[in-house]
Amino acid sequence: MSKFIAQPANTLSGTLKVPGDKSISHRCIMLGSLANGVTEVSGFLQGEDALATLKAFQLMGVKIERQEDKVTIHGVGLHGLSQPHVPLDLGNSGTSMRLISGILAAQAFDTELVGDVSLSQRPMGRVINPLAEMGAVIESNAGKPPLKIRGGQSLVAIDYDLPVASAQVKSCVLLAGLYAQGQTCVNEPETTRDHTERMLNGFDYPVHTHAKKICLTGGGALTATKIQVPSDISSAAFFMVAACIAPQADITLMGVNINPTRTGVIDILQLMGGNLTVSNEREIGGELLADIRIQSSDLQGIKIPKNLIPLAIDEFPAIFIAASCAIGETVLTNAKELRVKESDRIQVMADGLNILGIENTVLEDGIKIQGGVFSKPSGTIESHHDHRISMSFAIASLRCKHAIEINGVDNVKTSFPNFVALANSAGMNLVEI
Ligand code: S3P
Repeated sequence: MSKFIAQPANTLSGTLKVPGDKSISHRCIMLGSLANGVTEVSGFLQGEDALATLKAFQLMGVKIERQEDKVTIHGVGLHGLSQPHVPLDLGNSGTSMRLISGILAAQAFDTELVGDVSLSQRPMGRVINPLAEMGAVIESNAGKPPLKIRGGQSLVAIDYDLPVASAQVKSCVLLAGLYAQGQTCVNEPETTRDHTERMLNGFDYPVHTHAKKICLTGGGALTATKIQVPSDISSAAFFMVAACIAPQADITLMGVNINPTRTGVIDILQLMGGNLTVSNEREIGGELLADIRIQSSDLQGIKIPKNLIPLAIDEFPAIFIAASCAIGETVLTNAKELRVKESDRIQVMADGLNILGIENTVLEDGIKIQGGVFSKPSGTIESHHDHRISMSFAIASLRCKHAIEINGVDNVKTSFPNFVALANSAGMNLVEI
């Protein structure tokens, strides 16, 4: 089990490019595999999660070649996958398991999906239920992985009200809908990331969105395309917060995806008084990109608006570090989903903040954080093998006078394999041992 030792640093500078978007990288492999023709991808995230998806499709007979961040997918069409001879191991990746379930529910063959210790604890009932309504047959371990998906079922379209605002569940149902008879619709309680819809349109498969209702009709075909994956705003978020809290900071993050369903972190940091400037907006392959300059900021505590929660769902560990460095109290409620991510991100962050002397109150569906000063850590921070917890506490070192030790940082490579190198190139002082 590896750990970070983060020595204090107080400056952050430079022009940085973070790796490709994880959500988009997963979807490139899935849709490229199901398309007719050859899909070329550049900027692919070489993180373990996206690679788990890539390997799963290789095991289902898809020829996929990769040279660093360039991937060529020889699509087999919607009905061209073949039965894998082993269970598909999706590692730490909830996105892989939930989205692939939608595809596998409609195949002619049986499959089994497994994951690591963390993924094996995550709720899958949220995808099993709508898929069962469509006619799928899936066995689980009381709603958790492993999933055994029985092939040979014919699926019917549904009009599904999402019980939680989840892009993974929406995407799972839409992917199953590609195979279902009739029009499948998903109704979202709040807008969630729309990469599946955008990318399906990019593969010439029509998806219609009216307000929070998203529909497609089964029985069509996907046509291969070229995809350039933009930088992941969820990885960029660590550097946004880092630059806001560092006493002397001026950085620019290049080519970051600013899809409006992902930009909650920018809005939240700006509401807190963060000094962020978005420029050079451009569109590439149906996704918006921009360069983002961030300078040291005097942050204020806020009440986080409810509608921004799904738009910043992965960024809360980093936002909690911003809140710890703000003047006054930050309050987050309506965010129960954070308890079922790669770890219970409310409790695990609260435990780490306690070790750094930051006053906080854990709520059932959120947290209250009183901004303050990081004191000498009263122990080692446990990340519970959650990549985003590890990186969040690493950036706290920009406001610390003492080294911070963070245990269990191995999973940083699921989403941000060069985090340590990039952080150090910008002025941080991190070692992984
Ligand atoms: C993702 C959706 C989100 C997010 C996850 C990636 C996706 O999960 O937390 O990291 O790619 O669709 P939920 O759909 O569970 O909110």
